[in-house]
Amino acid sequence: MVAENTESSIVDVSLLADEITLDEALDALDPLRHLRNQDDPSDHILLVPTQPRSVKNQCISLTFPSPSPERSATAIQITLRLDASPGCGGIAWPAGEVLSNYITLRGEQFCHAKTVLELGSGTGLVGLVAGALGGHVWITDQAPLLGIMRDNVIINNLQSFVNVAELNWGEKVPSYIPRPDIILAADCVYYEPAFPLLVNTLSELSEERTEILFCYKKRRKADKRFFALLKKQFNWREVDDDPNRESYAREAISLLVLTKRTAIGCV
Ligand SMILES: C[S@@+](CC[C@H](N)C(=O)[O-])C[C@H]1O[C@@H](n2cnc3c(N)ncnc32)[C@H](O)[C@@H]1O
Repeated sequence: MVAENTESSIVDVSLLADEITLDEALDALDPLRHLRNQDDPSDHILLVPTQPRSVKNQCISLTFPSPSPERSATAIQITLRLDASPGCGGIAWPAGEVLSNYITLRGEQFCHAKTVLELGSGTGLVGLVAGALGGHVWITDQAPLLGIMRDNVIINNLQSFVNVAELNWGEKVPSYIPRPDIILAADCVYYEPAFPLLVNTLSELSEERTEILFCYKKRRKADKRFFALLKKQFNWREVDDDPNRESYAREAISLLVLTKRTAIGCV
């Protein structure tokens, strides 16, 4: 039996591998089980309004702090139509709210006049906030989610700022989607077969200068596989300027800044 010894703990690696294998077998039977782990009291969603999984055609309203309090700018208010029937993205997830809140705190200069692309937008929440901050935004997801995303753009009157497009991870990015200055992704790590697809799309869309904010809720040990793949092409660090970090860390949510690794040229 191999054991990995760190200063503070001894981890039995063979047991960890067994747990990951079990996780993978259960995922194959029920790929979305981590998103509705209602037996686990530590997995309750505390940050967004209660949304029963049977939700269909409901509206919620979310308020984010003023992006420029010194100029007495008003708080950003987003109304979201929710509908779980097209898929898990049709409701609002806690990582999306954490990321929305953070970009608002970064202020208008963060997004203003920049091209912003959100991956796996679901309802579109994060991208709508980026649009309200003045970014030229593309919110993207798989085809079944596009209707609810379009509705939410219209409800929030953000048609001049937010475009909606189909973008399936792992497929070639459509040529009409511009190269982004900023990439946003919230709660996109939950289905292991999609891990390499998501990393490929992040890689195709980015360069070393691209700012990538990646908000992630840890749900299971197999997520390590995602980060093992990510490490081949990206570096990352936790954001250290979010005053809310301690509170969402208690919900196992991390907000990371990803940077594409420098390509090593062939000489
Ligand atoms: C848990 S939801 C998060 C939605 C939203 N970002 C939020 O925080 O509320 C994950 C999203 O990823 C999208 N997704 C999953 N696999 C995908 C793929 N292969 N290509 C594009 N989007 C995908 C889903 O449709 C869903 O909207």
